[in-house]
Amino acid sequence: MNKLLKTLLSALSALPLAYLATNTYLHFKHPQTKWDWSEIDTEDSEFPDDFLWGTATAAHQVEGNNENSNWAAWEKQKNENGEPRIKTGDVSGKAANQWELYEKDIELMKELGVNSYRFSLAWSKIQPDKDTFNEDALQHYDDVINALLKNGIEPMITLHHFTHPIWFEELGAFENEENIKYFVEFSQRVFARYKDRVKYWCTFNEPNVYITGGYFITEFPPGIYSPVTAGIVFENILKAHVKTYKELKKHEPTVQIGIVQSTFQFEPLRRWHLGDWAIARISSNIFNETTLSFFRTGTMNYLLPFETSRSYTDLEAPNTIDFIGLNYYSHHAYKFDFDFRKATQSIAVEGEEMTDMSYTIYPEGIYRAIEEVSKLGKPIIITENGIADAKDDRRGKFIKQSLYAVSKAIKDGFDIRGYYYWSLIDNFEWAEGYSMKFGLYEVDFETQERKLREGSKEYIEIIKKFNSK
Ligand code: GAL
Repeated sequence: MNKLLKTLLSALSALPLAYLATNTYLHFKHPQTKWDWSEIDTEDSEFPDDFLWGTATAAHQVEGNNENSNWAAWEKQKNENGEPRIKTGDVSGKAANQWELYEKDIELMKELGVNSYRFSLAWSKIQPDKDTFNEDALQHYDDVINALLKNGIEPMITLHHFTHPIWFEELGAFENEENIKYFVEFSQRVFARYKDRVKYWCTFNEPNVYITGGYFITEFPPGIYSPVTAGIVFENILKAHVKTYKELKKHEPTVQIGIVQSTFQFEPLRRWHLGDWAIARISSNIFNETTLSFFRTGTMNYLLPFETSRSYTDLEAPNTIDFIGLNYYSHHAYKFDFDFRKATQSIAVEGEEMTDMSYTIYPEGIYRAIEEVSKLGKPIIITENGIADAKDDRRGKFIKQSLYAVSKAIKDGFDIRGYYYWSLIDNFEWAEGYSMKFGLYEVDFETQERKLREGSKEYIEIIKKFNSK
């Protein structure tokens, strides 16, 4: 046998060993934690006295009459097959009319016993065109903030929750670095007006969802598959955050400014299959790590192997968040395919109960997400966690188990300052339209009546036990 053949054969015989070693390493590095809930007493939880107990919404989803934004245009369009962009054919329209009914909604918050409310500003209402700031809209949010404070509810504002004015979209939004200045200007304007009363600010809600929705899954505007543009937008949004943080903090160093990160775990469908592992790890790196590593190390490493990569460093980045907002919903399993779009179609993890969304109930995942974001070394606020459950037969248990997991994380030493349930009321769930029922309160969109769901009483009970404010 010649030498070359010999070397080739011995290399081949080492392959199974290498496969096994890699698999074992991944197995231990990324365990798919499972808790035995039948053994757990969910009553056994504790929360600090000054904990923020809240609920969250976003302008486009609840206010109504958001007619001048990227999403307003998007929800009226059809896709290349002539089908409506929104799966149900809904448009947001009047939504839950919170613009007019905010006082009623504050009553609901009082009934729940929460001490904080996270909501977003509709940039498109405040700055309908580049040169106009609308005083009525600015005044409206003054009224909302004042009403919250009067009722002992701490406001938390999100500056960008997926939507922005159509003029900004037409300029290329965050695809164009030049446009960052418009976002910073808008933020400065509203900050100057509300900073005396609002202590908690989130710059961006979930850059990773905005970007994967818009440039990978294409169910969000602009709906163009482009991993390359996605990398550019990541970089520009992270830059916009840093600039905004610095500008705002200059004027009021005592406020707390953070960014909101959605965290999902990505599991290999078959834990013995290295292809499944590869897709899961690549997805997790893009979705979770691009933002997290930037605030942990100062470097954003965005990488889709064989397609594109982008790296950006700003060593000051870790000093530009006072807290990390964590949104947690569930985990996904992925199965290998050479086509990345096919490979990242969400598969529900086997053996777990479904939510009404395409993912399962996995409350222990919130503990894993907390561990992950805690590596930033900043206080954590859980800015969203909730369940779509139209039948309301899983919500109560979901709340108990999720809050048990949060409490365990606090006991284990993680610095968690608050928890905001998504959502206060049913609302317009983006690509899913009005089909998804996340609300603690059910909304009849004809009459705008709100009704407390049975399962939500678990949240009331827990808050009652621990909220001393
Ligand atoms: C988040 C988003 C919210 C809400 C929620 C439920 O990603 O920030 O606006 O839609 O998901 O799916």
